[in-house]
Amino acid sequence: MPNDTKNKYFWWQTGVIYQIYPRSFMDSDGDGIGDLNGIIQRLDYLADTIGVDAIWLSPIFPSPMHDFGYDISDYRGIHPMFGSMNDFDRLLKETHGRGMKLLLDLVPNHTSDEHPWFLESRSSRENPKRDWYIWRDPSPDGGVPNNWLSHFGGPAWTFDEKTGQYYLHQFVRQQPDLNYRHPEVLPAMVEAMRFWLDKGVDGFRVDVISKMMKDPLFRDEPPDPAWNGVRPYLSLLHTYTSNMQDVHPVIHEMRKVLDLYDDRMMVGEIYLPNADLVKYYGTPEKRECHLPFNFQLIAAPWEATLVRKMVDDYEAALPPDAWPNWVLGNHDRHRLATRVTPAQARVANMMLLTLRGTPTCYYGDELGMENVPIPPEYVQDPPAVNQPEIAHIVGRDPERTPMQWDDSPHAGFSSPDAKRPWLPVADNYKMVNVESQLKDKKSFLNFFRTLTDYRNISPALKFGSYRSFDLGSAEATGHCFVYERKAEKEHLLVALNFSGQEQKLGLPFSGTGKILLSTTMNRTGDVDLSGLTLQPNEGCLIFL
Ligand code: NOJ
Repeated sequence: MPNDTKNKYFWWQTGVIYQIYPRSFMDSDGDGIGDLNGIIQRLDYLADTIGVDAIWLSPIFPSPMHDFGYDISDYRGIHPMFGSMNDFDRLLKETHGRGMKLLLDLVPNHTSDEHPWFLESRSSRENPKRDWYIWRDPSPDGGVPNNWLSHFGGPAWTFDEKTGQYYLHQFVRQQPDLNYRHPEVLPAMVEAMRFWLDKGVDGFRVDVISKMMKDPLFRDEPPDPAWNGVRPYLSLLHTYTSNMQDVHPVIHEMRKVLDLYDDRMMVGEIYLPNADLVKYYGTPEKRECHLPFNFQLIAAPWEATLVRKMVDDYEAALPPDAWPNWVLGNHDRHRLATRVTPAQARVANMMLLTLRGTPTCYYGDELGMENVPIPPEYVQDPPAVNQPEIAHIVGRDPERTPMQWDDSPHAGFSSPDAKRPWLPVADNYKMVNVESQLKDKKSFLNFFRTLTDYRNISPALKFGSYRSFDLGSAEATGHCFVYERKAEKEHLLVALNFSGQEQKLGLPFSGTGKILLSTTMNRTGDVDLSGLTLQPNEGCLIFL
């Protein structure tokens, strides 16, 4: 861990992680769906143009695609739609050849219902793999065994006619949950991990890691008194299906596997409050995730005081040797630029790339891509299909649309004569695309690139300390988030204006500072710190 060995930091601490949703990044064969060769074609973009350090790929394994790859039917293969194992080997080699790392998505909580393990399990009650999954008798009235709900609508139980029992699935019914109380299940998943680690992948993003253990007594979950009546899944508190304390030893076992190899890492998908979240780092004796994803900002209202409080609270909650991380976008949440407004999207990215800890950036957020409205006939995401009345809230298609590379038909995601992309391309692609932004010195993309450049050369940004400040007036403190990043020989200030009005900061510093970068990209150079004013929606990186 970082603090044991002074000045030794790992790639997953100092680097920027970039999430690729492979179906939507680059289609090399014209079938309208992105693929591995497409990603290979764009590696120079990742390494040189935007300067990220590691790529995380959402699932690329064989899958019937009921949840777009998060329903895996073979943990050691590549879906032919994405390419072949040779293509994967080449991708890994070419990624490493450019000095970047590659993370895969490990989905241990559930398999596809077409996975051979489940086919065996459901074949009879006597099958040796029966208890690899979670089967329960119907309740006395013949209904579901308890009140547990699927994230994607409806009960978390599906009845199997042939064997007369229900099986558990926390997501779609084609995603049965594995039973980690059966002694053979974890070793089987560990074999899958080792298959990829032996190939040289640098680690895993682990899907719903905190949901791998369920209450052995199958108690009903209590109602959530704070439910707003919108999303059925949120009507219950998930006391018995999430964050069960006996998940920690399971994660520690997974960590031990990674530690058999050099320099690998595991980042866990966990949506929990700080006090619970930090437990997923494990203890110095029993390590767990290198990084438990910190998602608080992905759901937070975009208000300076609130965001500052979240950052400060998270910093305070971290155990001494735990490394922080930040996420502002992913394939499950509405686009960053849509959530915070396009006017604030640069401010948000400046924050992501200057807070203390590892940033994860979702593909397209470096261009300011926005949610794309999906016409009803295009809607494909299961939570939206299953719950049409709240599709606009729970549907994830809008943030999964094709990457906008240029202004040609299909936005350069596939060739002009290719099949229609699997999701519609954003209407704004002729304006918002990589090629046109590269030509514009002040574009979002060039702004993002400048930030990654600073991160790469700045000890303060990579591993300096963090402290936030009150400002000269309640007005400024309420609308701006200002913090320092400090290393032995470098002192930086980040000043972010969350409002659409000019703000005079009243900084607790005097003398002259130097603006290294403004989100507007129209000012640099010396400023009088005591009189510093931020333009509407402006963020500045300042050298003190
Ligand atoms: C979390 C993933 O991020 C999401 O996309 C998926 O639908 C569920 N887990 C189920 O695997």
